[in-house]
Amino acid sequence: MADEFVVTIDGPAGSGKTTTAREIARRLNFVLLESGAFYRFVTWALLKQGVLPGKFPHYEGLRSLISSLLKEVRVKLSPEGTVLILNDQPLKEELRSKEVENWVSFVSAHPVVRETITSFLRDLVKGREVVTEGRDMGTVVFPKANLKVFLTADIEVRAKRRANDVEDRNLEEIKRNLLERDKLDSERELAPLKKPEGALEIDTTNLSIEKVVERIISEIERRKVSRMKT
Ligand code: DC
Repeated sequence: MADEFVVTIDGPAGSGKTTTAREIARRLNFVLLESGAFYRFVTWALLKQGVLPGKFPHYEGLRSLISSLLKEVRVKLSPEGTVLILNDQPLKEELRSKEVENWVSFVSAHPVVRETITSFLRDLVKGREVVTEGRDMGTVVFPKANLKVFLTADIEVRAKRRANDVEDRNLEEIKRNLLERDKLDSERELAPLKKPEGALEIDTTNLSIEKVVERIISEIERRKVSRMKT
């Protein structure tokens, strides 16, 4: 079995992290851990159970509720991505619904939600070669990752990229939604979106995915070689 090797890619929505992370995982045959899926899953489940809006249980109640939700779910990690399977059904579109989009930043700002998902994610990657993407992968979840990357891009470009991913929304609405999400994600007290210490920062506004991927892969290779020498 290969030694554990963790690459974290953080950045705001539309910075290219998902596409970049997937391409790297495919080329290097690493598994792709999409951390947002877990925040979306918890949000979706809380909505479904009627706990949202406004009926959040107290601290310990919430912890056990989320732990039991995570116990029920099966996680399939591959270079293609992260699939959460509940009662033998893979969860897909439901995790990307408008309702989930509207609530996920609120839910993910809660300390109990973050703690529980963080420790779940750490257990998942043990002993694996993994590319993981999110908001706090390099700052909080895997601060000792072998390589930490922080992607940024102009809001206009990010909105256009998002517009290609979703139907039924105009560019202005997408832009407003992104700016609001950026604000919530980077101003929250706990695990805000920010550049991790020692991260390689790449502004993807004028770069093709190919260039971004090449740059990161050459850095991974360099670090693997230097690890072998030590
Ligand atoms: O990457 P995504 O769009 O699927 O993430 C959905 C939401 O989950 C995002 O608005 C913030 C939250 N999130 C988080 O707080 N921490 C992470 N590591 C990943 C996602």
